[in-house]
Amino acid sequence: MLAMGPQTRYAAAMQFPGETPVPTPADTTGAGAPRTFHVKSFGCQMNVYDGERMAELMAADGLAPTDDAHAADLVVLNTCHIREKATEKVYSDIGRLRKVAGEQGRVPMIAVAGCVAQAEGEEIVRRAKVDVVVGPQAYHNLPALVAKAAADGAAALDTDMPALSKFGALPARRRVGPTAFLTVQEGCDKFCTYCVVPYTRGAEISRPFAAIVDEAKALVDAGAREITLLGQNVNAWAQDGQDLGGLIRTLDRIPNLARIRYTTSHPNDMTQGLIDAHRDVESLMPFLHLPVQAGNDRVLKAMNRSHDRDSYLRLIDRIRAARPDIALSGDFIVGFPGESESEFEDTLSLIDAVGYAQAFSFKYSPRPGTPAATMGDDIAAEVMDERLQRLQARINRDQHGFNAASVGRVCQVLVERRGKLPGQMLGKSPWLQSVHLMADAAIGDLVDVELVAAGPNSLSGSVRLRQAA
Ligand code: SAH
Ligand code: SF4
Ligand code: F3S
Repeated sequence: MLAMGPQTRYAAAMQFPGETPVPTPADTTGAGAPRTFHVKSFGCQMNVYDGERMAELMAADGLAPTDDAHAADLVVLNTCHIREKATEKVYSDIGRLRKVAGEQGRVPMIAVAGCVAQAEGEEIVRRAKVDVVVGPQAYHNLPALVAKAAADGAAALDTDMPALSKFGALPARRRVGPTAFLTVQEGCDKFCTYCVVPYTRGAEISRPFAAIVDEAKALVDAGAREITLLGQNVNAWAQDGQDLGGLIRTLDRIPNLARIRYTTSHPNDMTQGLIDAHRDVESLMPFLHLPVQAGNDRVLKAMNRSHDRDSYLRLIDRIRAARPDIALSGDFIVGFPGESESEFEDTLSLIDAVGYAQAFSFKYSPRPGTPAATMGDDIAAEVMDERLQRLQARINRDQHGFNAASVGRVCQVLVERRGKLPGQMLGKSPWLQSVHLMADAAIGDLVDVELVAAGPNSLSGSVRLRQAA
């Protein structure tokens, strides 16, 4: 368990630009076995899922969860390495935890999990003297690592990548909210030139069909009405000739599972079977997050995206032919090395051509060890800022337009939580829009609603008929 995995060797070769020292108390380890814990997850939904599973593990090990990171004996920082800011946040968080704990005269244990743990490995112990470092494929060993660090008074590390072994070692799912995540696929073989995920999460792996169906049933028994299937390339899921569309058709038959979603998809893994599932399966929600990153073919090639502008647009046409009301979402990177003004404008025109219901956009961040980091021809910070603003203005325009065009639609809203006002409930439309309701409804109810007004980020709905959970 304590052997160094291949990703740790990758980490050892990396540079750490802008490294800032993290305050460390004289003795951060050997503080005794922790009784309470707090898990804080950063990054993508897969990390949220992993954070939930780590919390379940620690609870099964007899530790009590606490919402207050500053009161916990053990803080698990479940980290993201995707952009430099995300990585640096880990170190500022550790600094803050230590400062507050020092003022309180406490010495909490700190465990670093997630993608920074995988990428930087023992570098984190060197820089921030944490107690445990555990990678995304090894966190089933977290309780043992915590116990070892507490007993030895020395840091315990595990960044091995054993294929899938963690899932079999995790406790059963119980007590979840109306919406739940379920990881079905892990890793990435695409090696986009800007991206760390293939290094931090390893090769593409599909979880076994039966294990997924069992976990989905357990989630529904525990209260879930909607399940979002997760994977770094979720639509690469495949097994015995079945694709994600086939898996979705099976999950659709689980009684009381009202909604199925999946994220994140790669354009090249969008099989006809999955597109057909959008046409045929009622519980598969009409929403698709299909990142394109850029709209110019030279940039897409330099990114190693393995699709071009035209093939992406034709794919969108096929998806819309199968499910005309589908809401599309995407990810965009501005300021990739060498991106010219006219190449950037190609991204704007692609946005115009697709009409996204929502999208995420990022300034390019060079990541240590990735091919793009050494391409040169960096884009000036002010140019990136300006491009990001222009791109976000387009996306906002389309998002507001999509929401405004939804007014008058009658749909079901899955109630997820209480709103701020008395009697107000919040839920999601099939198109993943947030909807406010004044409703005598319980969390987990599916409510028939007419969408009556649209704001930039949410809609209000008026209840038509109630269907109990
Ligand atoms: N597997 C998914 C998501 C990967 S990470 C996919 O391929 O779509 C989520 C998003 O972060 C990416 O889609 C990309 O837009 C962004 N991203 C990844 N690496 C980045 C980098 N070095 N700089 C800026 N944004 C990045
Ligand atoms: Fe990263 Fe590309 Fe893989 Fe997505 S497909 S995780 S952007 S390498
Ligand atoms: Fe971040 Fe790792 Fe997810 S780098 S986006 S937490 S896969």
